[in-house]
Amino acid sequence: MLAARPTSIGTRHPELTRREVRQFALLRPRVEPGVRTGVPQLPYFLTRRRCPSLVEPRDSLVRVSFLERPNPIIAAPMAGATTPALAAAVSNAGGLGFLAAGYLSVDSMADEVTAYRALTDATVAINLFTPQTDRSLELGPRLDDYQTEVALTAAKYGVSPGDPSFDDDTFDGKVDWLVENPVDVVSFTFGPVPPAAVFRLQEVGTTVGFTVTSEHEALQAVGLGADFLVAQGCEAGGHRGTWHVSDQPNTLSAREVVAAIAGIGLPVIAAGGVGSAADVHALLDAGASAAAVGTLFLACDESKAPAAHKAALTSGSFTSAAVTRAFSGRYARALVNDFVRAHDGRAPSAYPNVHHLTRPIRTAAAAAGDPQGMALWAGSGHAAPGRLTAPEVVARLAMM
Ligand SMILES: Cc1cc2nc3c(=O)[nH]c(=O)nc-3n(C[C@H](O)[C@H](O)[C@H](O)COP(=O)(O)O)c2cc1C
Repeated sequence: MLAARPTSIGTRHPELTRREVRQFALLRPRVEPGVRTGVPQLPYFLTRRRCPSLVEPRDSLVRVSFLERPNPIIAAPMAGATTPALAAAVSNAGGLGFLAAGYLSVDSMADEVTAYRALTDATVAINLFTPQTDRSLELGPRLDDYQTEVALTAAKYGVSPGDPSFDDDTFDGKVDWLVENPVDVVSFTFGPVPPAAVFRLQEVGTTVGFTVTSEHEALQAVGLGADFLVAQGCEAGGHRGTWHVSDQPNTLSAREVVAAIAGIGLPVIAAGGVGSAADVHALLDAGASAAAVGTLFLACDESKAPAAHKAALTSGSFTSAAVTRAFSGRYARALVNDFVRAHDGRAPSAYPNVHHLTRPIRTAAAAAGDPQGMALWAGSGHAAPGRLTAPEVVARLAMM
């Protein structure tokens, strides 16, 4: 009920004027099923001057205590690869494992949290994809063209391209579940979320962070009430966290992103290209509180990445990685294989539509053990050092 909102916000935040209460209430997302209203931004006066309790890091020393781990190593969330076993192994080795809720149903996400808790007493941290804008109408003809183009590749694997549909990765359902079943830490990637999502999670004691790739995005995250930031550099494997799907990702390294946002004053986790203890050192020196590592954990036994993906990372037969939106419609870094060579530069910036369109090909290729049709996500330091366990990777990266 729209009419009820100003009263409850105003009661909890008596520092707001009636006008500001009304404005905040209007900015909150509507809840009617099936209606998408876009992602509202908090106005500047609300973010800074008038309502610090809504958007400033609250109890920040308490809220970011999850970063005070014996090893400043974080297993970066990796949808399609992270398992509770991987995250728990890293947490039990003194780092912190992030669960990845992307592409999971609400029930599967809940099961992963339960499984993680059965394996460790450590902090529970989970990452969600933010709702994207549906560009199907605008980009429909280009999606049709891309569907026709990849049909030839699909035929090689005996499948057809998938339906390039849009979805929001059950964002509201996941947030609702996390409000009812609070975890310690939630991070968002792919851009802004409705302010109410941040507010509701913080109200139940959850520390909330955003992946950012620039100072501009970091300031928007501050405006949304972020408690911490994940500074993702251009070296990172998998999807870039660039906030707008049609933006060309920048080429700032993780170190440069950390340096650009360190002055904001929020704790920063650096992500991208970490392959050694020296890399971790360099990021901490630049101002990060911890280093998030993805690709190095991908080939671990505890990861659920397909066997052919793990083999591609460790075999040495793939010698370069490129940032492409050929697989999903969002820019992501992957090893260069036949699929990238054939389709790079052709897909429209419609995410996750293109992800659904190419999924049958990627699934069939993985089932056939053929790396040439798969999305071989990998960071720029992509050569994994062979098949290690997650605790062995943490030990390699741990500070001397
Ligand atoms: C296979 C794979 C899946 C990923 N999935 C996610 C995800 O679900 N959410 C997210 O925030 N980042 C995701 N990322 C990005 C990582 O969290 C992190 O930024 C990146 O792996 C760090 O760079 P590195 O791979 O060079 O270590 C993914 C990366 C990879 C390699």
